[in-house]
Amino acid sequence: MRTVRSIAEMRASLRRARSEGLSVALVPTMGAFHAGHHSLMRAARANHDEVVVSLFVNPAQFDDPRDLDAYPRTVDHDAADAAELGVDVLFAPPVEEIYPPGFATTISVGGLAAVLEGATRGPRHFAGVCTVVAKLLNIVQPDVAYFGQKDAQQVAVVERMIRDLNIPARLEALPTVRESDGLAMSSRNRRLDAGERERALGLSRALTVAEQLVGAGETDVERLRAAAQTQLANVDAVDYVALVDPTSFTPVSGALGGPTLLAIAASVGPVRLIDNVVLQPVPDPVATG
Ligand code: PAJ
Repeated sequence: MRTVRSIAEMRASLRRARSEGLSVALVPTMGAFHAGHHSLMRAARANHDEVVVSLFVNPAQFDDPRDLDAYPRTVDHDAADAAELGVDVLFAPPVEEIYPPGFATTISVGGLAAVLEGATRGPRHFAGVCTVVAKLLNIVQPDVAYFGQKDAQQVAVVERMIRDLNIPARLEALPTVRESDGLAMSSRNRRLDAGERERALGLSRALTVAEQLVGAGETDVERLRAAAQTQLANVDAVDYVALVDPTSFTPVSGALGGPTLLAIAASVGPVRLIDNVVLQPVPDPVATG
């Protein structure tokens, strides 16, 4: 595996692959790898000739400077993981390489970027994500970029941007990888102490309860939201428990009419956690005959 730090080296390292018409995958990350990141790298490795993983803790997407400072940085460990998983290039640029003096452009996606995470974290969050992802897609020019469904709104916002800006890459979203007790893997989990980690299980339990109710035929949005909410009694603060259309992120009210995203954000101790599931209503036997 080559580790490259400059955009020029990054482009040069793919010159041969491109001239031979090989397929290129990009896995954008902020490092501190866990099994969720590993699953994206494995899928990229299985499906493409050249696999690039970017590792860049993007200051533009952090709303809170303390969160940026506290973000785990484990570069040597990450490089070893990526090499082990067969990654070809680790692109780990310094901040000045991505945001040189004079940098002045921001990509902001309207509508769906303003709700849920956008509303809680502020408009800079997804603008920061989109700006850096657009830059990475331009630098690497992959055929496919791999993302995790754990950040469902990020997937929807980046897909919107790719379509709106005619970026010639396809986004592949992969399922959320969880600990054996259900907690969604996150780089931030390592900041939870034992008690906080136990309380953090409320998020995945809330999703499971709602999924079970939907499996048993429940379709009422308010009853599903209330059932999810009861599992969040031990978190410190709930930002939202939302049922929305999985593509447009518009709120769903009344009864579920099709696949609906249940998204939760809550704080436990020093960490803000997010999790989600797509609820699939069981077909109505009367309507479908
Ligand atoms: P980061 O949080 O490092 O996540 C990198 C990728 O891993 C994202 O696509 C994220 O959805 C995915 N991921 C995280 N936890 C996961 C889990 N438990 N299961 C499956 N996939 C998981 O997301 C970012 O970085 C940044 O916003 C980035 C896109 C790199 C732009 O800076």
